[in-house]
Amino acid sequence: MFDFLKKKKEPAHLCVSTDIHCHLVPGVDDGARDAATAAEIIERMQGWGVKRIIASPHVTQDTFENTPEVLDQALAELKAELITRGNDIEISRSAEYRIDDFSMSQIKSGVATTLPNSYILVENAFMQEPWGLDQLLFDLQVKGLRPILAHPERYFYYHKNQRRYDEIHAAGTCFQINLLSLAGYYGKAEKQMAEYLVGKGYVDFLGSDIHHHRHVDSIEAYLQSKDYRKILPKLNLLNDKVL
Ligand SMILES: [Fe+2]
Repeated sequence: MFDFLKKKKEPAHLCVSTDIHCHLVPGVDDGARDAATAAEIIERMQGWGVKRIIASPHVTQDTFENTPEVLDQALAELKAELITRGNDIEISRSAEYRIDDFSMSQIKSGVATTLPNSYILVENAFMQEPWGLDQLLFDLQVKGLRPILAHPERYFYYHKNQRRYDEIHAAGTCFQINLLSLAGYYGKAEKQMAEYLVGKGYVDFLGSDIHHHRHVDSIEAYLQSKDYRKILPKLNLLNDKVL
């Protein structure tokens, strides 16, 4: 009856048009299980203004030992599905390389798939910082690669040791934080840390890290929130500069 009194929500709109972190290459990791599901999720993201997706399937020792051939074939299936739907979104893939022997051997042998401009998305283990991380990130840079550390706000061992954020970022590694962290999807601690990193000016990339529709729901609500509007002026992102 009093619907006219309700303030109309702004449509969800993302401040960048490129997502560099999502699990939408079908059937290769714990993300979208088939091409139709991935395409549905992509259509929802397009509603936020996403125009380009550089998907980042997991490459992780023991759990997701994906090779470039497997990933390319699955991406081709998704592209075919999108064509069937008449969707001409720009889609490609890199990968989310867990810092372990399996991923590092792909990087060393030159078969790893980087993002444009030689960026490479890497993630730490969640239990503890990888041994020799600084040297490893330095070695990547010596090879001409530009490491982007995925979701640093999700590594709890840094929450009590925030000096590591200063050190790693100052040594030339970019930070990519998850919209899901900002949305509070994982919990309060990750949200606070993501906002802290925004405040420090350390956030070079935003990523969705979408695996399934529930993630889309969470981000969509966040993009319509006051919290999102508050951080916008503090962001200076490279997402759309990776070409
Ligand atoms: Fe991810």
